[in-house]
Amino acid sequence: MRHCIYPGTFDPITYGHLDVLARAAKLFDRVTVAVADNPGKAPLFTTEQRIELLHASVAQLKNVAVMNFDGLLVDFCVAQKADAIIRGLRALSDFEFEFNMALMNRHLKPTVETLFVMPNEQFSYTSSSLVKQVAKYGGDVSHFVPPNVAAALKKAYA
Ligand code: COA
Repeated sequence: MRHCIYPGTFDPITYGHLDVLARAAKLFDRVTVAVADNPGKAPLFTTEQRIELLHASVAQLKNVAVMNFDGLLVDFCVAQKADAIIRGLRALSDFEFEFNMALMNRHLKPTVETLFVMPNEQFSYTSSSLVKQVAKYGGDVSHFVPPNVAAALKKAYA
């Protein structure tokens, strides 16, 4: 059983994240979406809300589970007996941050491999912050997030 972890803050989940997740679910027997509490990012949604929004979005992917984690990602990977971390590369600008994080994680736990997949190019400029900014000022985010997330954003900014 090949198991990978797809970590992130997911504040909130977007179609870009879901694209990466669908690719991971084809490559691995099991995928665990690991939602970082990440108080440093001052998320709009609580960890519980982010998990709830994710649950609804991944319901059709039978080999995908959602959990939260705090502490080091590699420790979570070891605790979950995961083989790999999967990350998305949207554009060249993601590379340096992802490269450093992958090497640091490898230094901390050499047995946990990091793999990268590229989401569909239509999501190359999607980010949770930009989506929140558009939603905050009443813009249409339906191209970027599932309907339940769009509704949650509307409520949060009402
Ligand atoms: N589609 C849409 N957006 C995407 C995306 C995709 N495919 N891939 C990345 N993004 C965006 C996110 O929306 C997010 O946007 P935002 O900054 O506007 O919110 C941004 O890219 C980065 O988000 P994400 O990929 O979720 O990473 P993150 O920085 O939120 O989370 C952790 C990084 C949680 C994985 C990392 O900090 C971690 O592992 N923390 C645990 C502590 C630890 O082990 N630290 C040592 C790491 S070396």
